[in-house]
Amino acid sequence: MRRSYMAGNWKMNNTRSEALALVKELLDNGSFKNKVLIAPSYTALDAVSKAVEGTELILGAQNMSTDESGAHTGEISPVMLKDLGVEVVILGHSERRAIYGETDKIINIKVHLALKHKLDVIFCVGETLDEREGGLAEKIVTDQVVEGLKGISEDQLSAITIAYEPVWAIGTGKTATPEDADDIHKVIRTKIENIFSKNAADNVIIQYGGSVKPANVKELMAKPNIDGALVGGAALKAETFIPIMEYNK
Ligand code: PGA
Repeated sequence: MRRSYMAGNWKMNNTRSEALALVKELLDNGSFKNKVLIAPSYTALDAVSKAVEGTELILGAQNMSTDESGAHTGEISPVMLKDLGVEVVILGHSERRAIYGETDKIINIKVHLALKHKLDVIFCVGETLDEREGGLAEKIVTDQVVEGLKGISEDQLSAITIAYEPVWAIGTGKTATPEDADDIHKVIRTKIENIFSKNAADNVIIQYGGSVKPANVKELMAKPNIDGALVGGAALKAETFIPIMEYNK
């Protein structure tokens, strides 16, 4: 049985004090039957790390460098994230791919480096609107899975969650229909079976992301291949994130 996994990606939002206020609301008013993660921006990680210590709220980062240390102005290394108590890193988010030019190759390097430093990974894949309308969604997502996970062993896969986020559904209010999302999740699960094993495919957690909100979480989570959510906008307020993180499959 796969345990539901709900993750809030705060993106470039929340100062330290805003972050702490939101964490307090989640801890005071939320419950943690599901696995629940929040990924604040780098500048709030230290403060939030202290606030979530000893609680069930898992601390994630939104990105990290391809390198451990050295001449990489503006970058953050996995060593630094570990030092702050970060347990998970989101890699390959479509905003990193589209706005900052991250390729499958770069993302694959980051996946390997994160695992080397014992960071779990939420590995994001998803097609653009043009790709979907061109009938390419399955191919794009499959290629991203194959390239992003190149060289990963079945053992290492247990530290990786896959997030399917159709780019056209992120922050747009448009959600993939639960059927369309589940179809792609199934394609991903089948690919995982081909690359690794049936056991790996049965156990891998695949989140859906793209305008998940309290009003649609139930129908999405009802689908057999959808194991959780990666949530942007609705993760910025306790009143919208708590019903999502508490959703009981
Ligand atoms: P959204 O973002 O929920 O605001 O669509 C999801 C994401 O980008 O992870």
